[in-house]
Amino acid sequence: MSTIQSLSLPAHSPMRHRDFLFGVATASFQIEGDAGSRLPCIWDTFCATPGKIADGSNGLTACNHVQHWYDDVALIEQLGVGGYRLSIAWGRVMNRDGSVNDAGMAFYIRLLDELNRRGIKPFVTLYHWDLPQYLEDAGGWLNRDTCYAFKDYARAVAEHLGDRVHAYATLNEPFCSSFLGYEAGIHAPGHASRAKGRTAAHHLLLAHGLAMKELRAVLPNTKAGIVLNFTPAYPLTASSADANAAKLANQYFNLWYLQPLMTGQYPAIIDALKADERPPVQAGDMDIIQAPLDYLGVNYYTRAMYQAGGDLGFEEVRVPGVPRTDIGWEIRPQAFTELLVDLHQQFRLPPIYITENGAAQDDVPVDGKVHDAMRLDYLQQHLLAVHDAITQGVDVKGYFAWSLMDNFEWAEGYSKRFGIVYVDYQTQQRIPKSSAMAYRGLLGEIKAQG
Ligand code: NOJ
Repeated sequence: MSTIQSLSLPAHSPMRHRDFLFGVATASFQIEGDAGSRLPCIWDTFCATPGKIADGSNGLTACNHVQHWYDDVALIEQLGVGGYRLSIAWGRVMNRDGSVNDAGMAFYIRLLDELNRRGIKPFVTLYHWDLPQYLEDAGGWLNRDTCYAFKDYARAVAEHLGDRVHAYATLNEPFCSSFLGYEAGIHAPGHASRAKGRTAAHHLLLAHGLAMKELRAVLPNTKAGIVLNFTPAYPLTASSADANAAKLANQYFNLWYLQPLMTGQYPAIIDALKADERPPVQAGDMDIIQAPLDYLGVNYYTRAMYQAGGDLGFEEVRVPGVPRTDIGWEIRPQAFTELLVDLHQQFRLPPIYITENGAAQDDVPVDGKVHDAMRLDYLQQHLLAVHDAITQGVDVKGYFAWSLMDNFEWAEGYSKRFGIVYVDYQTQQRIPKSSAMAYRGLLGEIKAQG
């Protein structure tokens, strides 16, 4: 276990440039609470279904951020970051009949005004998984109409929040919404079929493209993009069969979401799907999906290993004896650099923001302090991995740590902590961990350098 206390970057690192944006990230359902003031969403329903959430918890209170938002913004400012990535709860700002919920919109307006007043650039995600339940009742992301409901929601947000937002992201991690939610059944709404997963993925991408159009029309001068997660696929052995397995897994889990945005086409593995498993692509969809992006948000946590097998040609293998965080994900910073360099070589990418990176650790406060040595070490290694990618030519403009504070970690409930700030869920006290102090230290040092 490392014993570092601070974070550092090479003296001449481009990440020390004043235009490189450091930030912290959260998402609405994971922190907000105050569920009574918004429409129920698919995660409320999923949490209420026995056996779905590891600790049986829910998002009804979470970090009670709706009440604590002002202090939370002060905390963000104390970290010395230049950016804060948050998401809007669809069901807090829109009513069932499609009209705007003024009180909900006012909450985000206050929050954004305060962030801007303190010089913190807001990065706002429109969809971080909290689909209103009434839309799921009509089929959710399996129903094409949901794409148009999302488009209307995007327009309403853009009109009301306007230029308070520095950069919009339409979706967060459509892989998770579609694959985990509609194909593997481990996230809300909990469907488990390949045909559903592929349908949901297509509709999410279409919704993204439709929303991009609205954002462009209402806010031509505001950045608009999308946030994708990548879990780079590596072969278990040097055999060509495993190399091919990794290539296919990469297409299915990663490129499925990026390639249509960049080239208007799904990756070749689509041909391996049975006719009734293919996405319901209609004429014109791929052009809508391919709308130019101002930036690509990249979320990276870990890599995965594959061997040949399974009906699509790949099978994930969990290898023993490698370092892992407390959620069981391999710690592999080299794969982060390789991912960024590979993407840069394969596609004509827009500028990149690292919109999430971080580690789960089973933190325990001791004498009111939380020394999260493993997370600190993880952050150090991954900051250097980003630095390495930039020196190899990748245009990375910013880095957001996941997460500002411990929060509701989806199917893991509150049992997995990703925050650089500890949350005592009994008292809602926030305690900056060693990683938060180190992040502040690094950012302060960079600022002092001019
Ligand atoms: C991905 C998601 O965007 C975020 O909501 C989640 O908490 C983190 N990664 C950690 O799993």
